[in-house]
Amino acid sequence: MDAPEQSSSAIEPGGTETVAAPMVEFPVTRSCPYQPPPDYRRLLEAPCPSRVQLPSGDIAWAVARYEDVRAMLTDPRFSSDRSNPGYPLLLAGQRRFVSNTTSASGRKISPFSLLSMDAPEHGTARRAVLGEFTMRRVEALRPRLQQIVDACLDEMLGGSPPADFVAAVSLPVPSLAICELLGVPYSDHDFFQARALALLRRTISGQERGRVITKLRSFLDALITSKEQEPGDDLLSRQILRRREGRADGVPDDPDDHEELILLAFLLLLAGHGTTANMISLGVMTLLDHQRRGARLAVGRAGLAGWLGVYRAAARSETSPPIAWKVSSK
Ligand code: HEM
Repeated sequence: MDAPEQSSSAIEPGGTETVAAPMVEFPVTRSCPYQPPPDYRRLLEAPCPSRVQLPSGDIAWAVARYEDVRAMLTDPRFSSDRSNPGYPLLLAGQRRFVSNTTSASGRKISPFSLLSMDAPEHGTARRAVLGEFTMRRVEALRPRLQQIVDACLDEMLGGSPPADFVAAVSLPVPSLAICELLGVPYSDHDFFQARALALLRRTISGQERGRVITKLRSFLDALITSKEQEPGDDLLSRQILRRREGRADGVPDDPDDHEELILLAFLLLLAGHGTTANMISLGVMTLLDHQRRGARLAVGRAGLAGWLGVYRAAARSETSPPIAWKVSSK
């Protein structure tokens, strides 16, 4: 965000303006890997908003309490468009990758797809994919997801101890689920998974990250081309068919649609992989922690309601990422 009404600067007696140091510098220090860092508590307790410093060096204003976050997210004076000059960026050097482009036909294309759009474009793009995340669709995916989870657990249990749960289950389950969602052929799963994993590695250099992104982009480009030629039963194929509806016979696919689908597929991978992997690990941690403390959740017996309890406990206090970025237009 840009500066809000409440400022943390003050006029000193001599007439010089002093700007308070940021209350929190990201990345924050974690004293216990399984508990929210103390800095998050400080943000929650401080008058809203608080000045914070991002790893890029950008100064931003953080809004931490649920009601304040809700109010900000629904206030049209805040924008998600990363190409706004004051948009707080997490990493240095990101600015040159965030610009929207205007295609030859005049369509505004956002490199972050839905994540960097405002109303009314955001609503239109979101409605186009909402049908993919209904209970009915998720239920239809359930048998395949169950197979994926079972196969990962079986492989882990078949090895000799100790087992690395994150490597064996938390990381592969979401990337294989995303393969399923996008209709990535089985023979390409290893390629897709290895690149998806590389993007999550914090130690990866900017250059290497660029190379991985280029490879994934060409992969998604080819995947979408193949689905344009022969649509299947997956999210990307349905998006292609949806965009063709109403187009007269013989009119070729719009290259802007193709580009937008690459970016959407990328977003689903980026948004759904690390977040879910962390959630699976933290959910299991929460479960084990409750058991260790004798407060048995009896999730098995409580069925879905029990699992929702674990999910809520983990999502409330340990979710990653805890942050959504916006820039203020006022
Ligand atoms: C526990 C797991 C997850 C967490 C904690 C999480 C968290 C978030 C957050 C905080 C945002 C807002 C980001 C922003 O506005 O800057 C977001 C947006 C989004 N997430 Fe997730 N996410 C999770 C799982 C997933 C999965 C599995 C998918 C899809 C495969 C997904 C797809 C998306 C998409 C498409 C958006 C953009 C929505 C929009 O702008 O309308 N997320 N998520």
